[in-house]
Amino acid sequence: MGLSIERILHSQGFGTRKVCRALVRAGQVSIAGDVLDDPFAEFAVDGLTFSVAGTAWAYRPQAYLMLNKPAGHECSRSPKHHASVLDLLPAPLIERGVQPVGRLDEDTTGLLLLSDDGQFIHRLISPKYKVAKVYAVTLKHPASDTLIAELLGGVQLHDEPEPVAALACAAISEDVIHLTLGEGKYHQVKRMIAAAGNRVAALRRIRIGGLALPDDLAEGDWRWLTEAELQALWA
Ligand code: URA
Repeated sequence: MGLSIERILHSQGFGTRKVCRALVRAGQVSIAGDVLDDPFAEFAVDGLTFSVAGTAWAYRPQAYLMLNKPAGHECSRSPKHHASVLDLLPAPLIERGVQPVGRLDEDTTGLLLLSDDGQFIHRLISPKYKVAKVYAVTLKHPASDTLIAELLGGVQLHDEPEPVAALACAAISEDVIHLTLGEGKYHQVKRMIAAAGNRVAALRRIRIGGLALPDDLAEGDWRWLTEAELQALWA
C-alpha cells in the first residue's frame, strides 16, 4: 500500500500538507533521480529514500538518533540561558517532534538520545526499567576507596527519602571515575559526588544500556541509530 508523497513528506517533518504540496509543485522533491510534480503520487514507504532540495532522506516511521552533546547547550525546547540541543538538528527532525531522552545539564557532554517515540523515551528514563547510564566523572579531588565505597553503598541526598546508590563505580585514574546509575534524578551525579565529599569538575555520559558513545561521533554531531544500536540499548 502506497502513501502520497504529500503525506510522506508531512510525516517526516517537512511542514503542513499544504507546504509539502508546494514543495513538490516547486520541483524540490525527487525519488530515484526523478523530479516529482504530483503531490498525490503514491509510493511504498518501506525502504523509501527521497530527496528534498538536494538533501537525501530515508523514510522512518519513528526517529531514533544519538547526539554527542557539547557543553553550552540545554536539553529543552525553550532554553533559558544557552542554545538548545535541538539547534544541532535539521529542521524536519524538530518539526516531527524529536525530543531529548531525559536531560543532561548544560555543562554535561556526551551521549544523548533523541526520539519522537514517547514509549521509547519513557522506557529509557523511567526508574522502573533501570536502564544503566554510565558517566565518566572528572573529580575536583582525587578519587579514594572511601568515595567509591560510599557511592556504591548509597549516599543521602536532600529531599530523597532513602540513600541513593550507584549500580557500579570504578576508578579509572587518579581523578576520573566511571559511575553507573539506573535512574536520572535532578543533577544526580553532581549531588551524589557532593554528598560523598568531592566535587564534579567535568561530566560526560559515555554509555546508555549496552550502547556506548562511538569514538567517531564528534562533539556536536548526531546520527541515526542503527537497528543493532537500538537493540543494544536493552542489552
Ligand atoms: N547527573 C548530573 O548531575 N548531571 C547530568 O547532566 C547528568 C547526571
